Amino acid sequence: MGRIVLWISPLLWALSTLTTPAAADSGGVIIVVPPVSTDTGIKQIPDAAHPYVAPGPGDQRGPCPGLNTLANHGYLPHNGIASFEQIVNATREGFNMEHDLAGALAGFAMVEYPIPSLRPAFNGGNAFLDLVSIGGTSSWIPVLPGAIDGPNPPGGISKHGRFEGDVSMTRQDAAIGDNVNFQNSLYDELLLYTGRFGDDSPITGNGSIVTTKVMQEFKYARFLEDQVQNKALQYHVGRLTLSYGEAAFVLNFFANGTDGTLSQQTMGSFFRNQTFPANWHRRSTPGSINLIGTGVNDILSAHPVSPGANDANGVYVLDAPLNVCSPPYYNLAVQNLPASYNNATGILAQNVIEGNEITTVSRRACAGSKGGYVSRDVLGANQEMYMISL
Ligand code: HEM
Repeated sequence: MGRIVLWISPLLWALSTLTTPAAADSGGVIIVVPPVSTDTGIKQIPDAAHPYVAPGPGDQRGPCPGLNTLANHGYLPHNGIASFEQIVNATREGFNMEHDLAGALAGFAMVEYPIPSLRPAFNGGNAFLDLVSIGGTSSWIPVLPGAIDGPNPPGGISKHGRFEGDVSMTRQDAAIGDNVNFQNSLYDELLLYTGRFGDDSPITGNGSIVTTKVMQEFKYARFLEDQVQNKALQYHVGRLTLSYGEAAFVLNFFANGTDGTLSQQTMGSFFRNQTFPANWHRRSTPGSINLIGTGVNDILSAHPVSPGANDANGVYVLDAPLNVCSPPYYNLAVQNLPASYNNATGILAQNVIEGNEITTVSRRACAGSKGGYVSRDVLGANQEMYMISL
């Protein structure tokens, strides 16, 4: 029996293995935005070709329980180094994340740049090779050509002050603790709020269903806590929106697609074990930017929090309002993208400058219609500001 298991497991693993594209000695990779999928219904996840395989010592894992889970099941390369296209396809297959939202997140992950107080320092990924680490720095991902952003290799999505930021749910703020790995004590707080504010279920128990009300109370409590504990708290509008968005991710993407509810047991599978729960189905309709935007507003509405940062005395100072049509987008895509991308040439330029796909987000958002996606085309600061003023 033992022999059969040993023989079957590698077979399953071979079926499911998605590898990091070999880009290391290439002259660069042109990023091609995957087509919008028509395979968007409910589906049991994982399938037989994607069993859980625990990460090994060299595998990158980071602050995102969604991406960690996908890599543990081989929907993303098991080593945690992925291309833009692999992230868009994997988040659609595993979680039914819509193209616009997946593209925006993968695009930001690839090109994100430190907030001003942390500059100069690494990018998130390497848009020349089309690779980003879902954890930290990796030998797979060298500096950009000509080191146009300085000598440091990209820091992956774990690097603080790009995408990763303060007031997470289960990771500590970088200034006061471990901002990358799951923290039991914070998760216990989330469970406490679930018990107090969650719905009852005859199957999983009283106070076991995670609801918007749970997130309204928990996120506000986390903000108040960090405002006091973290003298260096940074909660500008881009990060604030992402951090509430992540709470909306939990409700909308971790819930079982069969009935749309999220039990604390299911949530624990993703957060604690970074694996899909048994008998779990992805959501039955694609989860888009608009869906998550509505979720952010719903969660914030109970206890509104305004963007700002702590000063040297630990006093929370509100940011001046940004006089643009989409402050979160402006903060992330204009203020946190390196103007040095304007100096890119060749394939890097094609990936980050030409085509202006990223601008479709601002134009569509500002026109009040469906969001676009940040994809292969990220503009430098001046061009982006111009597009936003359109
Ligand atoms: C599409 C590409 C994605 C990227 C680039 C990405 C990136 C990230 C990053 C950088 C963080 C850390 C932010 C922080 O400091 O709190 C994060 C957190 C998070 N992500 Fe993702 N993510 C992606 C997709 C997903 C998906 C598909 C899900 C759910 C199915 C998900 C769920 C979460 C949750 C719940 C958190 C918050 C963790 C916490 O606060 O403890 N993400 N993600």
